[in-house]
Amino acid sequence: MNTSEQSKTPVGVVGVGWVGLVTAACFAELGHPVVACDVVQEKVDSLNRGEITIHEPGLAELLAKNKERLEFTTEINEVLSRTKLLFVCVDTPPTYSGDADLSRVRAVVADLKADGDHVLIMKSTVPAGTGETIRRDLPGMAYVSCPEFLKEGTAVKDFLNPDRVVVGAAPEDRTAADEVASLYSSLGGEIVMTEVSSAEMIKLASNAYLATRISFINEIANVCEEVGADVGEVARGMGLDERIGPHFLRPGIGFGGSCFPKDVNALKLLAGNSGYHFQLLNSVIEVNELQKRRVVSKLTKHLGSLVGRRVALLGLAFKPDTDDMREASSLVLSARLRGEGAEVVAFDPVAMDQARSLLPGVEMRDTALAALEGSDAAVLVTEWPEFRELDWAGAATLMRRPLIIDGRNFLDANVVHGAGFTYEGIGRPGVGADTE
Ligand code: UDX
Repeated sequence: MNTSEQSKTPVGVVGVGWVGLVTAACFAELGHPVVACDVVQEKVDSLNRGEITIHEPGLAELLAKNKERLEFTTEINEVLSRTKLLFVCVDTPPTYSGDADLSRVRAVVADLKADGDHVLIMKSTVPAGTGETIRRDLPGMAYVSCPEFLKEGTAVKDFLNPDRVVVGAAPEDRTAADEVASLYSSLGGEIVMTEVSSAEMIKLASNAYLATRISFINEIANVCEEVGADVGEVARGMGLDERIGPHFLRPGIGFGGSCFPKDVNALKLLAGNSGYHFQLLNSVIEVNELQKRRVVSKLTKHLGSLVGRRVALLGLAFKPDTDDMREASSLVLSARLRGEGAEVVAFDPVAMDQARSLLPGVEMRDTALAALEGSDAAVLVTEWPEFRELDWAGAATLMRRPLIIDGRNFLDANVVHGAGFTYEGIGRPGVGADTE
């Protein structure tokens, strides 16, 4: 370690789930000594042994490379005594009412004593207004809202190359806010200095807007199917307008994951609890739910009744490069297919262990070809790159009926059709004898 690294501000991290671990690893990579705590002893023990169970590209390497600067403990007092800047990264899952569950945040706050030394930096996604409440509970302690904008699968890259970093603080906490901003100053993204409730809203509004774009393009795709247009062309043509831009206009069988469904609903409820009916978000959520189910009618169009038909799901995770099954479209889709009387078999390159207990009655197969063997139809649920390279001609001969519904418009329709398949995507013309 050189002298400049030794002099870097120590950073504390509370909660080493996915966000906390990425935060800890990336600050260590930037040269900061990091002390991170978690209430789960086994997690802390395995992290101290250098083992991680989270599937996130580049994370294990970063933790190994910077292990001398990283320390994991179950004692929050260790973090408090060694660091001044405390990044709170505990999870805020939805409650039964759909509001964010702040019990873990409250547990952390209860462990802290208001003092003038520490700065509480909220990374977890919390409803707007939470910061104000915590500031009242911890008078004298500086509070900064610094929401995370990390995408699973590219979280390390997102942290180290941010589009923007949002730093929200009350005027009296401006010095603390500047300290937090300086941690990110070498990374290049614009630093948005604002007050706490606006920072909280930037996070919720960003995710709600992105989810809105997805539901919008999904509805456009559904109309394209009615009028014979190709949504890929439509999205490309739209995206060239610089006011619209090309991103997040990929149609599919719905968004999932730990953030979008939860945050969209939390914003809708936050609005409702504050007396405002957020009508648009109701539609965004409903369109997404219906989109997961539309595959069923695409299958019945080709197969008639699904009773006794075998349907193979290719991919289960909510998106590629992760084993995360939270709110994955495959959960609703497989339950719907089973509800129609179909047998469901599935393969995912990394998410099968996570999926097994969530998908009772779904048979897991070790390879994509094994899942396809003897099936009446396949549905591409997650766009794992390896599915593009599959031996589709071989797959066609293994299936009872070579029919594929490409739920992510991921495959080259002509290639798959050339291999013997009837192909149908989302919002684009199908290819094959019985789709013409
Ligand atoms: C998201 C946000 O992008 C991130 O900023 C936030 O902090 C956490 O939530 P993540 O959940 O990892 O990140 O996934 P993301 O890559 O954004 O995709 C979310 C879902 O939207 C996936 O199910 C994906 O398949 C779907 N999606 C995305 C589409 O259906 N169409 C698109 O055009 C883009």
